[in-house]
Amino acid sequence: MSDGFRLGIFLTIVRPEEKALLAAAQERGLEVVRYDDRDTTFALEPPSDLPDVLVNRSVSHTRSVYATRYFAHYGVPTVNEPEVLELAGDKIRTSMRLYARGVPTPRTVVALSPEAAPRAVEAVGYPAVLKPAVGSWGRLMAKVDSAESAEQVIEHKSALGAPIHSVFYAQEYVTKPGRDLRAFVVGDEVVAAMYRRSEGWRTNAARGGSVEAAPLTPELTELSLRAAAAVGGGVLAVDLMESSGGLVVHEVNPTPEFKALAGATGADIAGRIVDYAERIGRQ
Ligand SMILES: Nc1ncnc2c1ncn2[C@@H]1O[C@H](COP(=O)(O)OP(=O)(O)O)[C@@H](O)[C@H]1O
Ligand SMILES: [Mg+2]
Repeated sequence: MSDGFRLGIFLTIVRPEEKALLAAAQERGLEVVRYDDRDTTFALEPPSDLPDVLVNRSVSHTRSVYATRYFAHYGVPTVNEPEVLELAGDKIRTSMRLYARGVPTPRTVVALSPEAAPRAVEAVGYPAVLKPAVGSWGRLMAKVDSAESAEQVIEHKSALGAPIHSVFYAQEYVTKPGRDLRAFVVGDEVVAAMYRRSEGWRTNAARGGSVEAAPLTPELTELSLRAAAAVGGGVLAVDLMESSGGLVVHEVNPTPEFKALAGATGADIAGRIVDYAERIGRQ
């Protein structure tokens, strides 16, 4: 029964994930307040009709960070917290955190200019992967096999002009068995995991390929929880690869899609997220 608990959801569009979240909230008798990320304005003074908790589902990293900053400013707890969004939304800061907390992660070297970039790539060795510091769905990433191909990618990136493309995140290429792993953490629990298989080296479910439920082994569970805790915890999808030396974490996603994972595992991920948000909102 509803006791007037209000769950806010900040979103760009209603994808299957948001549809499932709205349905889960409704099933639990919660009142849902919807905020469109292209429509909402934020005054310094708190509005009168605030929700008890805000679930961020905006596809924009910038909007996610500012919106959760505002709701936090108004005293509304958010899933995830703005600091977590900022940190996990940035692959450079995430890598530093994972390393600092002893979570195995691929060797990574950053350069802040096209002049220094070739040295970052040399330092990780070939093949290397160049990634944008902020981004998802495997976009704008390149695998380079030689100094010559690295030089060409660096030149193209610099020509794009945007400041974010003059940051060069170079990572050792991890030879993986045609798949990677995605584990979904809600609070202090791994709720599901899947393998993502693909013909190409980028195995993002959004790029096609196939997914399959993965067993929650002790290694996977432990590393995923440690990776989530390293960025501040909450609702986080942890990406891992099976390297020759064991699992390594390469990314922690703070506003993850979960349609493919729910389909592959049958896990009620939306329900778990709403339960978690309600718990946070009632604290
Ligand atoms: N260092 C790497 N070695 C081999 N494959 C990688 C490496 N980093 C990423 N990949 C592949 O590329 C995909 C996308 O990389 P990721 O770092 O997760 O960025 P995104 O934010 O775009 O998902 C991963 O799921 C993985 O399959
Ligand atoms: Mg990823």
